[in-house]
Amino acid sequence: MSCFALVPAAGSGARMGATTPKQYLDLLGKPLIWHTLRALSAVPEITRVCVVISAGDEWWNSYDWSAFERLQVLRCGGATRAESVLNGLRAADVADADWALVHDAARPCLDPQLVSAMIVRLQHDAVGGILAVPVADTLKRAGMGERIARTEARDGLWQAQTPQMFRRGELIHAIAEFIGPDITDEASALEKQGKAPQLVMGSPWNLKVTWPQDLQLAALILQGAKNG
Ligand code: C5P
Repeated sequence: MSCFALVPAAGSGARMGATTPKQYLDLLGKPLIWHTLRALSAVPEITRVCVVISAGDEWWNSYDWSAFERLQVLRCGGATRAESVLNGLRAADVADADWALVHDAARPCLDPQLVSAMIVRLQHDAVGGILAVPVADTLKRAGMGERIARTEARDGLWQAQTPQMFRRGELIHAIAEFIGPDITDEASALEKQGKAPQLVMGSPWNLKVTWPQDLQLAALILQGAKNG
């Protein structure tokens, strides 16, 4: 059994409102994805880190990635996250039985120890699993005119994070079979096959940079982690 990371990084990050794709926005003097790759490279169980960028990516080559020895760059990004993941899984030079840890480029504050604990917990599991956190806020369903239609029960609801850890061959089959608008993460493809991936407790620090203010939050989290 060996583990590799697959980092989809072929999105445009339209919600950030910047012309530079989100993964290359400046975060503490480095492109955002640099921090993500550093975290994954610090996980001893991960033998290779595969990054999926789009074929026309003009940014990647302008940075120095020499600090990351186990990096493989795959220029095969697709039109959606699921397509990028599927293309990357197929292109990666790994075995079908290997565990793929798919992790968003846009989650730079990942704690390597959390990933090691996840691997220990899931490495003998029949299906695999994901990092996630229980929903903390009360959930409202919007009705007409941005008025509340009702309150949704939050019991048993979790917010999915990444990494999401599945065997490479099984994940390829699941995504290829069910790819479409419903497949917003890897687990959802496995769920469509009737499988029940494990929920592994993640961390609120593992935020996905989506909106402009998230960059500031990410900087604070990374600085906090550095200062102990
Ligand atoms: O846009 P969002 O934050 O949901 O994207 C999650 C991750 O998927 C990001 O790391 C982004 O670069 C990646 N992605 C991709 N290919 C796409 C769209 C998104 O690799 N076509």
